[in-house]
Amino acid sequence: MRPRMSKIQTLLTVFFSILTINVSCFHLHDFKPNYKEALRLSLLFYESQRSGKLPTNKRIEWRGDSALEDKGINGEDLTGGYYDGSDFVKFSFTMAFTSTMLSWGIKEYEDAYKEAGQYFEVLDAVKWATDYFIKCHVSPNEFYGQVGDFVADHAFWGRPEEMNMTRPAYKIDAEHPGSDLAGEASAMFSSASVVFKSVNETYSKELLRHAVELYEFAKNYRGLYQDVIPGAKQYYESSSYGDELTWAALWLYRATDNPKYLDDAEKYYEEFKISEEGSNKFYYNEKVAGLQVQYLQSYNGSFLADSTGATEYFESAQKFCDNAVDKQLRTPKGLIYINKLGTLSHASNVAFLCLRVADLPRMDSKKYVHFAKEQIDYILGAKGRSFVVGYGYNYPKRPYHSASSCPAIPQPCNWEQFHSTLPNPQVLHGALVSGPDQKDFYEDSREEFTFNEVTLDFNAGFQSALAGLIHHESSEKY
Ligand SMILES: *[C@@H]1O[C@H](CO)[C@@H](O)[C@H](O)[C@H]1NC(C)=O
Ligand SMILES: *[C@@H]1O[C@H](CO)[C@@H](O)[C@H](O)[C@H]1NC(C)=O
Repeated sequence: MRPRMSKIQTLLTVFFSILTINVSCFHLHDFKPNYKEALRLSLLFYESQRSGKLPTNKRIEWRGDSALEDKGINGEDLTGGYYDGSDFVKFSFTMAFTSTMLSWGIKEYEDAYKEAGQYFEVLDAVKWATDYFIKCHVSPNEFYGQVGDFVADHAFWGRPEEMNMTRPAYKIDAEHPGSDLAGEASAMFSSASVVFKSVNETYSKELLRHAVELYEFAKNYRGLYQDVIPGAKQYYESSSYGDELTWAALWLYRATDNPKYLDDAEKYYEEFKISEEGSNKFYYNEKVAGLQVQYLQSYNGSFLADSTGATEYFESAQKFCDNAVDKQLRTPKGLIYINKLGTLSHASNVAFLCLRVADLPRMDSKKYVHFAKEQIDYILGAKGRSFVVGYGYNYPKRPYHSASSCPAIPQPCNWEQFHSTLPNPQVLHGALVSGPDQKDFYEDSREEFTFNEVTLDFNAGFQSALAGLIHHESSEKY
C-alpha cells in the first residue's frame, strides 16, 4: 500500500515532477550555449585523429600508436600528423588548411582560449600538425602531400592501430609542382610561426624558415597539386592556385612584417583576377573571402587612409557577410545552406569570417556577431538538437567514423560495425558532423555520410568561431 504523503512531501513531489518534465522535454527558450565546453571537446576530436606514436599524456583512451611505418619514397620518416576523418589517409592540403584556420583563431582569440583553459591544448593541436609537416618538407622544393591510398583505405573498416594495408606516399617537387599545396603549406607554417612567437622563439623561427622556402617553391614552380597526386582531385580538389599564392603571401607578411609580401599579394590579386571571383563560400578550395579579410587586417585598421586596393577589399568583405546574413538560402530553422556535404562546416567558416569582419573598423559589428552566434547556436542545439558529438541535447551517436565505431579491444572490428545501427561504442567527443539537409532533416546514421561525415577541416572554422564567440561574450559586445 502506498503511504500517505505529508504536505511537504507532496510539494516536493510536485516540484520534482515539474523539474523532471522540464528536463525531459526540450525547451527552446532554455537553450544556453556553452562555447567553452564545445571548444574543449573540439580539441578532443583533434586528439582522437592523431596518427603515429602517441605521447604518454594522451587523453583518448581508445586510441593508441598507429601507422608507425609511414615513409616517404626514399624512406623518409612520415609518421605523425592527423587522419583525415573516418579514413586513415593523411591529406596535407586539408590538414594544412585546418592548421592555418586553428592558428588564425589562436592569434585573434588567444584570450578566449586562455579563458576556456584550452590554450596549451590548442598549441599542442597545431604542433602535432606542424611537427609532421616539418617531416613532409624534405627539401626546399619537395613536400609530401599525401600518405595512404584512398581505395585501399576504403576497403578497410576498423581501428587505425590494426590496419595493415600499404600506405604509399605522394609528393610535389620542382618537376611536379603544386602551388596550391605549397602555398597552403606555407600559410600553415607562417600562421603557426605567428602563434609560437611568444611561446618558443626557436620553434617559431624554424616554422618561418619552412614557410619562406615553401612560398618560393609555390611561386617559382607553378601547377595544381591534383595534377600530380592522383586521388586528390576526387576527394579534395583544388581548382586554382591564385588564392593560395595570395593567402601564403599575406600570412608571410603577417609573420614577418616585410612589405614585399604585401606587394606580392596585391600582384597576385591582379594577376589571378581574384576580385572577380565573388563566392558565398570559404573553405579549402575557395579562400578568396578569407584572404580579403586577412588583407584588411594586415593594415591594422589604417586601410581607411589611402590604399584603393584596401577599399576594394573592404567592400568585398562587407558584401560577403551581408550576402551571408541577408541573401543566403536558409533552412526553415535558419541555418545558412551553402552545400550538401559539410553544411555545418560551411556555415561555421562563414560565421568565423564574419566575426573577424565584425572586429574591423566601420563594419556593422552587431549584425555580424549576432549572425555568427545564431549559426553556431543552431549547431549546438538551439533549434532542437546538437550536431556535435558528446555535446548537448540529442547529439549524434553514430558518426561516420570507423575508429570510434569499434568496440573495446579484444573484440573484433570490421564492416559489421559499419552496418550496425547501434551507437558508436566510443564517443568521438567534439566532432562536428556534416549536418542536415535543406529542410533541417537529419538522420543519425553511420551509413549516411552526407549527414554524419566528420573531417579535420569541418571542425577547424567551427572551433575558431567558438573562440570568437567566447571572446565577444566576455567583451560584452552583444
Ligand atoms: C591484415 O589484417 C587482416 C585483418 O584486419 C588480416 O586478415 C590479414 O591477414 C592481415 N594481412 C597481413 C599481411 O598481415
Ligand atoms: C623550443 O623549440 C625547439 C625546436 O623545436 C625545441 O628543441 C625546444 O625544446 C623547445 N623549447 C621548449 C622550452 O619547449
